[in-house]
Amino acid sequence: MRIAPFSLSLRSLYNATMTTIDFLPRLRAAVADVLPEIIALRRDLHQHPELSGSEERTAGIVSEMLMRNGIAHETRVGDTWGVVGVIESGQGRGDKTFALRGDMDALPINEERETAYKSQIPGVMHACGHDGHTANLMGAALVLNRLKDDLPPGRIKLVFQPAEETVRGADVLVAAGVVDDVDAILMLHGWPRLAPGVVGVRDGAVMASSDQFLLTINGKGGHGAYPHDTIDPIAVGAQIVSNLQSIVSREISPTTPAVVSVTQFFAGTPAATNVIPGTAKLGATVRALSPALRDELPERIERIIAGICAAHRATYEFSYSYGTPVTVNDTSVMNLVREVGRDVLGAENIVELPEPTMGAEDFAYYAQKIPGGMFRLGTGCEHLLHTPKYDYGDAPLESGILMFAESARRFLEKGV
Ligand code: NI
Repeated sequence: MRIAPFSLSLRSLYNATMTTIDFLPRLRAAVADVLPEIIALRRDLHQHPELSGSEERTAGIVSEMLMRNGIAHETRVGDTWGVVGVIESGQGRGDKTFALRGDMDALPINEERETAYKSQIPGVMHACGHDGHTANLMGAALVLNRLKDDLPPGRIKLVFQPAEETVRGADVLVAAGVVDDVDAILMLHGWPRLAPGVVGVRDGAVMASSDQFLLTINGKGGHGAYPHDTIDPIAVGAQIVSNLQSIVSREISPTTPAVVSVTQFFAGTPAATNVIPGTAKLGATVRALSPALRDELPERIERIIAGICAAHRATYEFSYSYGTPVTVNDTSVMNLVREVGRDVLGAENIVELPEPTMGAEDFAYYAQKIPGGMFRLGTGCEHLLHTPKYDYGDAPLESGILMFAESARRFLEKGV
């Protein structure tokens, strides 16, 4: 219903008193209206997946749709394929800015699911459902833009982020100042373990930090028949791998999650079994859910490496690199999601997630800087994330757009 005959001041009055009850039917109608276009967008993105850092086509489509709908935006943000749009809402100037984030990149996996919109790029697919996340954010952008005059005054920032999978997206956008003027930020991630339209929430640390180390063990090579003339880096490496297990099992409380997984061990030559090599190389992923524990892990790991190398006359080179921080959900933002979820999807569709996961999410960079929240949105897919048959599907889109749009409206109305 348009209220065209109203004068500007009466319109403002109407806006000021517009409640959730008045607004939701109009929001639902707007979502139903844009849904076919958004489904087509998701399917198109699914067919044309792009790897992290190469999201040129996706960013171009996003920019073109924003432009067509008159939504101001910047492209190539922070010299990436990031696109950041802004919707100024309401009458007058509001003092709040809320951001919504969607990631755009795909994975180097060959799609094995047969659908009308199967990936056309061999070896690349949207195995993490970022096609759905991008389409979802675009859906929210379109409905919020359409209803912007009837929203509380403020700003909604639309963060279309590249390179989530390689962790070269969020930190670059944060460094470029994307959230400097933002009060809170929200994201969703498709979650196959929940039915479509079901939202999973949790406060505090929800995803782990993800760091890594590389290790070179320098021994002394020689003949496999004369081991006493060598310093065997394989024997030393094997002890390091096995002793590193004691960090989690014997140094950290059993109720505190941490992971130290040696995932690479290279040594020797495939051509000979009678040669003890001079060096061995190891690589590992290291995860924690507590920022304090995360900071202690490099020292604990190197202490064990140094001790074992010294005991066996080997030397080593150790390089530790920090990746994604712990993703910590702000309780106020999550309470907003719970409240919106109950009103929009029904209390029965909002579930508390029983545990965090040790996966990582570069949304952590935003949430380190400003209050942030991520929720899981059920996709009901029978296959898990990062597998060749995962599909975000069309089913979660309507719920996701409603959640994003109403969360933004309600934040501008009353904050968190
Ligand atoms: Ni993902």
